[in-house]
Amino acid sequence: MPRVLIPFEVAPGETRVAATPETVKKFREMGCDVFVEQDAGLSAGFGGESFKKSGAEIVPKADKPTWNSVDLLLCVQSPPIESLALLKDGALLLGLLAPYGNNSLGNALVSGNLSSIALELLPRISRAQQADALSSQANIAGYKAVLIAASALDRYFPMLMTAAGTVQPAKVVILGAGVAGLQAVATAKRLGAVVYVSDIRPAVKEQVESLGARFIDPPEINEKPSESGGYAKAASEAFLAEQRKQLMKQLSEADVAICTAQVPGKKAPRLIDEEMLEKMRPGSVVVDLAVAQGGNCAGTKSEESVTRNGVKLIGASDLPCTIPNHASTLYSKNLLALSKSLLKDGELIINLEDELISGSLLSENGVIRFSEVLNPGGIN
Ligand code: NAI
Repeated sequence: MPRVLIPFEVAPGETRVAATPETVKKFREMGCDVFVEQDAGLSAGFGGESFKKSGAEIVPKADKPTWNSVDLLLCVQSPPIESLALLKDGALLLGLLAPYGNNSLGNALVSGNLSSIALELLPRISRAQQADALSSQANIAGYKAVLIAASALDRYFPMLMTAAGTVQPAKVVILGAGVAGLQAVATAKRLGAVVYVSDIRPAVKEQVESLGARFIDPPEINEKPSESGGYAKAASEAFLAEQRKQLMKQLSEADVAICTAQVPGKKAPRLIDEEMLEKMRPGSVVVDLAVAQGGNCAGTKSEESVTRNGVKLIGASDLPCTIPNHASTLYSKNLLALSKSLLKDGELIINLEDELISGSLLSENGVIRFSEVLNPGGIN
């Protein structure tokens, strides 16, 4: 019987958990023994009793014999390196492992002879949708970013006609219309704002317009950034300079900018510089979701709110942690969906013929499969 461990997440600020009582029950039905660490689900609203009722055994935190006996560890973020050393040879780690440029994770996987699946590497194909944790969490981030902006803004979002006069709707500019950006568009529209969107992938225009927002066409220069597998490729500095010029006017009239533009494994494109910030209205708000990748906006700091010439700059990289119950519910279902490809007839099998597994298996029994990802040159 495969033994599955759900650890108490120890990363600072992490409130999510990798399983819920509902998914524990499904793992039990698939023939697994499930161990949930003490208080692992508490900050996400899932108490120990509910896990026990679903068939899990509650174990103390970082209990060496338990860690040394499990076959599959389901996590939100990678456990610390010293905890990974407790796992037995060949154990499989599955979660959002932040693999890009993560050399110390690579070393721990090699020295512990561990197998690992990084959900960041999951191919973006239709079959992967149920397991797509980047999307389930980005959706939450896009939604919450707009709520944060609305509550920080010195104006209403919707247009209002009152006896004291008419209030014009807020103008929201959304940079990047991937999963987070499109959810931000939908949320800002629901609140009544007028929404403008910039992205460099032409396919996005139709999606943006179908949500009732206006698309800012990418700059017309020869050197257009390409895309692969639905993702944008990094734009050249010349292209970004043109893009910033184009955005300058939009931002000078904006009340809110929501920054979600990213390129996997690369530094986030700089789309708002100091000069553009100076043109923004005092009282306006920038929420930068790309802050952990260097930020789309100059001057944003992770999990900090700073005011610059009256413009509020909010760096928000961990928004899914602010809605931990739903974030965990969806994330645990992503893990369950992928685990179904790993568990066959009560056995844990890594099948490299499965495109989802071969595309996301970072290491197999201590052998690194995507060294270009872990390599410190991965983020540049
Ligand atoms: P992401 O978080 O890597 O990037 C967010 C957005 O930033 C992207 O739309 C990208 O084009 C944009 N961006 C990059 N550089 C920019 C720049 N200089 N200016 C403005 N925007 C810029 O992407 P995310 O949200 O993870 O997914 C991107 C796309 O992947 C989706 O829109 C979709 O097409 C595809 N996808 C496919 C799935 C599937 O088929 N299973 C599931 C999820 C996404």
